[in-house]
This record gives sequence, structure tokens and C-alpha cells, in this order.
Amino acid sequence: MGILLKNGCVVDTQNQTLSPMDLLLEGGVISAIAPGIAAKGHETIDCTGKVIAPGLVDMHVHFRDPGLTYKEDIVTGSAAAAAGGFTTVACMPNTKPVLDTPEQMHYVLEKSKSQGSCRVLPIGAVTVGQQGETLTDFCALSEAGAVAFSDDGVPVTSAVRMRDALKAAKALHKIVISHCEDGEMVKNYAVNEGEVSRQLGLPGRPAIAEDLMVARDLMLAAETGAHVHIAHVSTKGSAALIRQAKANGVSVTAETCPQYFIYTEQEILKKGTMARVNPPLRTEGDRQAILEAVLDGTLDCIVTDHAPHSVEEKARPLADAPSGMVGLETSLAACLTFLVKPGYLTVPQLIAKMSLVPAGILGLEAGALTPGGAADLCVFDPSEVWTVNPAEFRSKGRNTVFAGDQLTGRVMLTICGGAVTYRNGI
Ligand code: DOR
Repeated sequence: MGILLKNGCVVDTQNQTLSPMDLLLEGGVISAIAPGIAAKGHETIDCTGKVIAPGLVDMHVHFRDPGLTYKEDIVTGSAAAAAGGFTTVACMPNTKPVLDTPEQMHYVLEKSKSQGSCRVLPIGAVTVGQQGETLTDFCALSEAGAVAFSDDGVPVTSAVRMRDALKAAKALHKIVISHCEDGEMVKNYAVNEGEVSRQLGLPGRPAIAEDLMVARDLMLAAETGAHVHIAHVSTKGSAALIRQAKANGVSVTAETCPQYFIYTEQEILKKGTMARVNPPLRTEGDRQAILEAVLDGTLDCIVTDHAPHSVEEKARPLADAPSGMVGLETSLAACLTFLVKPGYLTVPQLIAKMSLVPAGILGLEAGALTPGGAADLCVFDPSEVWTVNPAEFRSKGRNTVFAGDQLTGRVMLTICGGAVTYRNGI
């Protein structure tokens, strides 16, 4: 029968506008976008005062399925995505077993299609078992549905392997997403090397460990002509290197996460393991540089790096707890609060960085509301103030640095392929 969204403020990510409009959804697609559409037996949802945006796209999540489903699975991860306004996510391969075979690609695609609340696209591993030794069969993985290649969670230590991976991905018109940290320099250390690590008497992960590998991968991309996408950029140095490489014409895109332009290493002292993440939260100078790089487009898109861990794991001492934080259910609100509210970005600019731009990097047709296009969208109240309570998350993960924070802007409705995947208060 279709759904009619009345009187919303519609985001056009391509033309960067916000206009009062109605949207009619029929048969899984957007059948009309216009003012004053009359309801003809459609379910009508009043969106007065709300923003209607394309479904958000997160190109960097960890759903832990198969094998680590006590942390998260495709059902709960995709439900968390829907609650955050996302309709498409790309999931990293550091599962158990690793997503390194066509069968694993099929597993993710089929489980998400039959039981999920959003589109879940698998990212194939770069090396077999993420062991850094043997390249996976990029061709077979791509044919089976891999949307990109990455060993995220584990840096690809060998420059030879990374060079081969870039060439193999290029031949398939796919990208490599690189987790840039020199493994030998960061070991399993918990925090940034600096003031806080010294205060705690812990060894730290130095910024140079990230900068070095970013420099290496930018040089390899330049040399091979392949495209590299730099994951979760956290340092001033990396941002500067990427900016320069773009100016030199290197085929590079890059992402960051809300935690890197909102918080610094000081959070470790207040929130302990909840603030432990790889790469680590850095200094105020890094935070400012990351913000600047988001605003000038050096960092193309915003992702969550949604990395759920169990309560028991995060209750361990700082040096023994796993790294990572969940983000799907707080990302839009955090970005509205820290980027839009202070006037750094407009709503359409932010939404593009969380939908159209990452979709484009992955070569997907998503991130824009178009008549005839998929009915993938979210509706949010840009002014609702709420307090983050991890106990209310759809995710199995409770590990967030945003717990207790007051954020402005709340997702009220998410629709994926014309089906309501999340609805709250509208
Ligand atoms: O903190 C992190 N956690 N960084 C990563 O790159 C991986 C992730 C995880 O899988 O837990």
C-alpha cells in the first residue's frame, strides 16, 4: 500500500539543499518527491519538524559474525545500524573464521538478507586468515560479493603484500582499505604514546606508527596507480600526508570516526577501557587537525568503526582489555552535536559525508533520495536532546565513550528497501 512521509525537510545530498517536501514510497522504491502529495490509502507518517535524509552508509563496521557472536551478530549489528539511521554497512573481515573465502561472502550476504535490518556488504580479507602472508583470491571474493578488501584490525605489515593487493584490487576496480599502524611499534599497547601513557606508566602507540604506514600506502598507491582508502585517520601527520597526496593526484580517499574529532587521550583517564580504541584517541592538536581535515574534505567520509566487545572483556584492566567502541547508535547524533550545531557543517554537508560519499567510494548507488531509486532513508529530529544510555542499545556492545553524554538530534524512523527497520516516537 505504500508509505507517505508528509511535511519533512528533505536532504538533497547532491545539490546540498534542504527543502520542505513529501515522499511517497511504493514497492520498495521512492515513487515521488514533491510538495503536497495526497494520501491515497497510503500509511501516512507526519514528519513535521523532522529531517528526511538518505539512508546512511557506514563503510566500516565489525559485526563479529561468524564466530564471535557473543560480541555482536548480523541480526543485532544490523538492528543497531537501523537504529542509527543506516541502511547500508560494509563489515570488516576480522571474524572467526576470517571472511577470506567466497563461502564467507555468501554467508554474510544471505544471513543479512534473510535476518538483517539493513544491507550488509562483506569486505574480503587481503591475506588468508589475516595472517599477512598469502593474498586471498581477490577475483573469487569479488565475484562472491566482496565490496572491498581490507585486513582491518591487523595492519598489512609487508609492503610487498600491500603492493600486490593494490594491483589485484585495481584490476577488479575495487579498493583496498588500509588499517595504518606499524604493528611492531604499537604492539598491543592500550593508549596513545604521550602525556597520558607517561602518567599511567604504560607503553604507548606513537602517532608516527600511523603516519609511517600512511606514507607507505600513499607511495604505493602513487606507484601502482591503484586506489587506497585510509581507515580511521587519527593523527595530524596522517591528515597532512593525505592532503598532500591528494594535491599530487594520488588516488586516495580517507575516513575518520566521531571519536577522533570529539575526544582526546584525556578520556582514558575518565572512562578507562571505554576510551581504548585502535588507533588510539590522540592529543588536542591531533583532534583539531582531524576536524580541520573533515571540514576541508581531506577526510572524505565519516564512519563508525563500530567495534563491539563484551562487558566482561571491557571490565579487564586497561592493558588487557580489547580495543574498540560501538558507534552505530550514536554517530549521527554525535556529528549533529559536534559538527552541525556549532556551525562547522550544514545538515546536507554532514549527511553527504555519511551517505553519498562513502557509497561513491565503494562504487554503490546509494546516498541520495531519487524518484525511482531504492526507498532507503532515515528520518531524524535535529533538535531532540537525549542522553546516551548504552543499556538501550540494539547492539550487544555497551562499550561506548559517549555513555552519559547529552547529544542533540535523534533518529526516529529508518526505512530500508521500503520496509520500516526502526521506528521510535514518530
Ligand atoms: O579498536 C579497534 N577495534 N580497532 C580496529 O581496527 C579493530 C577493532 C575491533 O575489531 O575490535
